[in-house]
Amino acid sequence: MLFSSCFVAASALVGSAFGAPAQHSERAAAVVYDSETGFTFAEHKVAYTLSASIAVRVAVPSSAQAGQPYDAVFQIIVPNQVGWAGIAMGGSMVYNPLLVGWANGQQTQASTRWATAHAQPQIYNNAQLQKLTAGNRANGTHWQFTVKCTGCTSYQGRTGSTTTLNPKGGNRMALVISNGKPQQPSNANSNLVMHEGPIYWTQSFPEGANANFGELVRRNGGTTTSDGEVPTNGSVKA
Ligand code: HEM
Repeated sequence: MLFSSCFVAASALVGSAFGAPAQHSERAAAVVYDSETGFTFAEHKVAYTLSASIAVRVAVPSSAQAGQPYDAVFQIIVPNQVGWAGIAMGGSMVYNPLLVGWANGQQTQASTRWATAHAQPQIYNNAQLQKLTAGNRANGTHWQFTVKCTGCTSYQGRTGSTTTLNPKGGNRMALVISNGKPQQPSNANSNLVMHEGPIYWTQSFPEGANANFGELVRRNGGTTTSDGEVPTNGSVKA
C-alpha cells in the first residue's frame, strides 16, 4: 500500500511523495503554529500513503541574517511504519549535516550525522541537538521529534568553504526514510539501515521566522545564543 501505488492520488494532497522518481519541488512553505511548543514553523509535507504524510517543519529566529550561523528548531512528524527519517541540510547525503530521528517506545531519539560516501554516516559533533521538553513523542499513529540544533544551518562542505542556509530565503533539502528500525533504538548514536527516497525540495525559511525564538527555546527547556528577540537598541540581545 505504500509509495508508488498511491503516488498519483497522494501527490494531489501534498507537494511530493516517496516512490515517485526523485524530484524537486519549490514553493512557499505552509505556515504552521504549533500550540504545544509555541513555535511558528515553515512546513513541507510529503505523501507517505493516501491517508498519511510526513511533515518537515523548521523554525528560525527572526533576527537571523544571511551568511551568519544561527540556531534552528526542527520538528518532524512521521507515520509509525517509518523506522527512521533523516533530513539532509544541503540536499545531499555527503558533506552536509544530516539530522536523523526515530521512535524509541513512546519517546524519540535524534542525532546529527555526516557522510563522505554513500555508506553508514558518522556521528557529527559540529552540530549539537537539544530535544525540547514538548513535541517529542510516539503514539498509535505517528512519532515526532522537536529539536533545537546548533550547527545545522552552517557547515564546511566538500571544498572546506562554509555554507550557511539562508534564513531569508529557500534552501535545498532532502528527506529520506527507512522502513527498518535503527539497530539500537534506545541509542541516539545507533547504526542505521538503508533508506528509501530521497525526496528533494526547496524549503522556504521565512515562514518559520519567530521574533521570540530564544524565549520559546527556553520555555521548552533549551538554551540558545540565537535569541531572535527584536532588538531595541540596535543590537540583538545575547
Ligand atoms: C545505513 C546508512 C546509509 C546508507 C547505507 C546509505 C546509502 C545511500 C546510497 C547507496 C545512496 C545512493 C542511492 C542512489 O544513487 O540511488 C544514498 C543516497 C542518499 N542518501 Fe543515504 N545512506 C545512508 C544513510 C543516510 C542518512 C542518515 C541520510 C540522511 C538524510 C541519507 C541521505 C541520502 C540522500 C539525501 C541521498 C541522495 C543524494 C545523494 O546521493 O547524495 N542517507 N544513500
